[in-house]
Amino acid sequence: MDLYEYQARDLFAAHGVPVLAGAVVDVAEDAFGVAEGLGGRVVVKAQVKTGGRGKAGGVRLAGGPGEAVEVARAILGLEIRGHVTRRVLVAEASEIAEEYYFSFLVDRANRTFLAMASAEGGVEIEQLAVERPEALVRVAVDPLVGVDLGTAREIVAEAGFPEAVRERAAEVVVALWETFVAEDAMLVEVNPLVRDPHDGIVALDGKVTLDDNAAFRHPGHAELVDAEAEDPLEAKAKAKDLNYVKLDGQVGIIGNGAGLVMSTLDVVAYAGQRHGGVAPANFLDIGGGASAEVMAAGLDVILGDPDVNSVFVNVFGGITACDAVATGIVEALGMLGAEASKPLVVRLDGNNVEQGRRILEQAAHPLVTLVDTMDAAADKAAELAAAGA
Ligand SMILES: Nc1ncnc2c1ncn2[C@@H]1O[C@H](COP(=O)(O)OP(=O)(O)OP(=O)(O)O)[C@@H](O)[C@H]1O
Ligand SMILES: [Mg+2]
Repeated sequence: MDLYEYQARDLFAAHGVPVLAGAVVDVAEDAFGVAEGLGGRVVVKAQVKTGGRGKAGGVRLAGGPGEAVEVARAILGLEIRGHVTRRVLVAEASEIAEEYYFSFLVDRANRTFLAMASAEGGVEIEQLAVERPEALVRVAVDPLVGVDLGTAREIVAEAGFPEAVRERAAEVVVALWETFVAEDAMLVEVNPLVRDPHDGIVALDGKVTLDDNAAFRHPGHAELVDAEAEDPLEAKAKAKDLNYVKLDGQVGIIGNGAGLVMSTLDVVAYAGQRHGGVAPANFLDIGGGASAEVMAAGLDVILGDPDVNSVFVNVFGGITACDAVATGIVEALGMLGAEASKPLVVRLDGNNVEQGRRILEQAAHPLVTLVDTMDAAADKAAELAAAGA
């Protein structure tokens, strides 16, 4: 999960990384009081989970509380790279002597952690990495050793941070490492890390990505999820522990097991070419236990996608046999009632396939078409999707 800047700032503050005072508002008028409390001069910053906010007009200075309201009004609602700004951070305006760059991240290729630092921050770091790679130092961090003050001093020295701020910067780097480890982050990035005129060091802009696989260790992280910005169908699927992925075609896909689901996508995409370019609208892996409840939850999610014209249920019976899956489908359609309104193509194979097919044939649900092979079923689903478009 990527965090908003203000959330990253809160985590930094909790781990002793110096940040600027400020508050988040979602109504422009509220910027007045915040700016007043900060002494008037403030920076108003769009809170969106994308980069390049400054260039898009999403980071602006305001000379006083009145102007802060005006600027906040201009930034709220602003669309930045497809993200609509719904909140702004009103932060103390800082005096900047120099801007640096610092990050810790997971280096997958080398199976370790990596510190990246540059004395030339503020700019887009991807650009710096391409144009002047020598200005960006990369130091591998052994996860078992970590980063103490000695290591941090070496990193900032190698990056060319000026002598006068090295000690202070090294302390901040240690606090950033503590944030990275304690929060189970995959990325902690500060750009710019600022030197003020009194040689103080402040994290002016922060980006943090948390490892969702470690969520169980951090009950507090659940509060950082922005439910409003989440896709409602993805949220619904997640709440029921289903793996749902949205795509942009017209055929909804339900399968059991990642391998079968992936090949189903291929087969549907291929069949779709014979039916005017129909493609998968989404896919959902119901996993091993395809009970009636799981099938109902899955169908509910898939049918909730307005792009879906037909659904392909492709199940290979294993531990959960085909008869149980067929019963699940029949019961799920019963549970959903009128909410199920799109045609379903079902292909069953594997354990107890004959019994499974018999159950579906006897139920004779008007929306269900039973097809024996995966290719023929994909073709039928694509045909129905094209007809329903
Ligand atoms: N509180 C502040 N006081 C003074 N100047 C600031 C402040 N916040 C940001 N700035 C200036 O604005 C520039 C851009 O700010 P920031 O890094 O937060 O946004 P950005 O880099 O445009 O956004 P992103 O990181 O999403 O690409 C900074 O490099 C800094 O010069
Ligand atoms: Mg930045």
